[in-house]
Amino acid sequence: MPDTNKRNATNATLAQHVLHALEAYQNASEQGKTPALLQQEPEFLNREMDLVKWIRDGGLDARNYAEFLTPYLEHSQHMHHPGFIGHQVAVPHEGAAIADMIHGVINNPMAVYEMGPTASVIERVVVNWMLEKCGWFTGAIDDFSPNAANGTKNGGGVLTHGGSLANLTALLAARAHAAPNAWHEGTPNNLAIIAPAATHYSLARAVSIAGFGQNAIRYAPVNELEVLQPKKLEQTFLQAQDEGQKVFMVSTNACTTATGLYDPIDEVAEFCEKHDLWLHVDGAHGGSALLSDKERHLMKGISRADSLTWDAHKMMRTSALSAAILFKDQKAMAGTFHQDASYIFYGEDQIGFDAGLYAVECTKSALGAKLFWVLAMDGEKGMGDFIEKQYGDTRAFYELINAQDDFSCPYKPEANILCFKYEGVEGNDAQLALREKLLAQGNFYITTAVIGGTRYLRLSVMNPLTTVETIEKLLSEIRLCANEAAG
Ligand SMILES: Cc1ncc(COP(=O)(O)O)c(C=O)c1O
Repeated sequence: MPDTNKRNATNATLAQHVLHALEAYQNASEQGKTPALLQQEPEFLNREMDLVKWIRDGGLDARNYAEFLTPYLEHSQHMHHPGFIGHQVAVPHEGAAIADMIHGVINNPMAVYEMGPTASVIERVVVNWMLEKCGWFTGAIDDFSPNAANGTKNGGGVLTHGGSLANLTALLAARAHAAPNAWHEGTPNNLAIIAPAATHYSLARAVSIAGFGQNAIRYAPVNELEVLQPKKLEQTFLQAQDEGQKVFMVSTNACTTATGLYDPIDEVAEFCEKHDLWLHVDGAHGGSALLSDKERHLMKGISRADSLTWDAHKMMRTSALSAAILFKDQKAMAGTFHQDASYIFYGEDQIGFDAGLYAVECTKSALGAKLFWVLAMDGEKGMGDFIEKQYGDTRAFYELINAQDDFSCPYKPEANILCFKYEGVEGNDAQLALREKLLAQGNFYITTAVIGGTRYLRLSVMNPLTTVETIEKLLSEIRLCANEAAG
């Protein structure tokens, strides 16, 4: 016993050191005192962190932890840096970090209720809260009884390790609805879905994983900004029919990964209702507009959809990963997976409920706890304010960029994703080269995307510390990079 106490005390000291190092890391990043990202070759990073030595010999402790932690943090991507305007991952809220730490100690993998009772209850309440935002849940969000017992027609959902798994789960649920025998007999080879080409690749992957094959995707008609055109859906539907395919699902983006533009859910719902088709909304990024009175209109029609993918680790500020797949109809969710596992699922007479029956994963992290901690600290209003700030700031950045003679934006942003182009150089490769040069300076991390054949520089405004001044500096630095490249 004394040995255990000693070990715990030493490890607690190590944890305190790590916490201090993280605090210093976050402060330096927020103040822009470190590069946003300085890319290094893997061989260099491996050498800096001395990975093989630690793996072979062990011995990392409270005295020497910095030998590893310092290079590990220094060479990471510094998401708290105001110049981090890159991908759609949250600059994590402290609440989510605390939830991660707690999970790291208690480790309650909660796909099965008895293995994580508290985390299971949190997940259910958080999922019900999300369902409520879609108009798929009425009554107390801490009501745990199934619909049959409480006389409601509430929806259901489960948290998953990411939007990609959520999209796969939605597709499997829609397949179960259209072809109830598919689980046993395999996927019918005439089933098809309609989705815009700009749909996140995870859905196209899911189509092949589920055994449909890529030919089952009929690309939806879109405009020049890759936004779905609902009035032309009929044509795609009839063409599929003529070619012997039976469309069973339409997938829409809310919003599209590359542009941040929303497909018109309400109008697509009209079409789906007419033909009795499953409507999936991929709101991995933009579903969070539901939390803001000002931005909710972007999700108009969501209550008419059948399923929604909604990531918390994008706009709800949790660390990766925490995502939800939500269903309007609890029964539809229940038909998605089938399994017989005597060692883990004990039937309905047990206390609680097993989220694992409705998820791809067997071992599941306490995904709801992260979201809960953010909500518990800021409240749902605080989260809505955050969405409004990020969306509003992005519109201001658009005004600024588009007002420059040498920059142009192809559209006015709807979400916090903004594409733009430096007009002082010619061609797609030149925009890519500009990003490379910019990243090498270390002050900014931005991405690019191709829209309608043209490559644009791309900002995801995830960081609340990114300001108009940050963007002014970004534009100046892009000009400098272009001038240097021109020699
Ligand atoms: C619209 C959309 N759907 C799905 C995904 C995939 O989500 P995840 O990265 O959580 O698997 C993304 C990720 O960027 C996305 O933008």
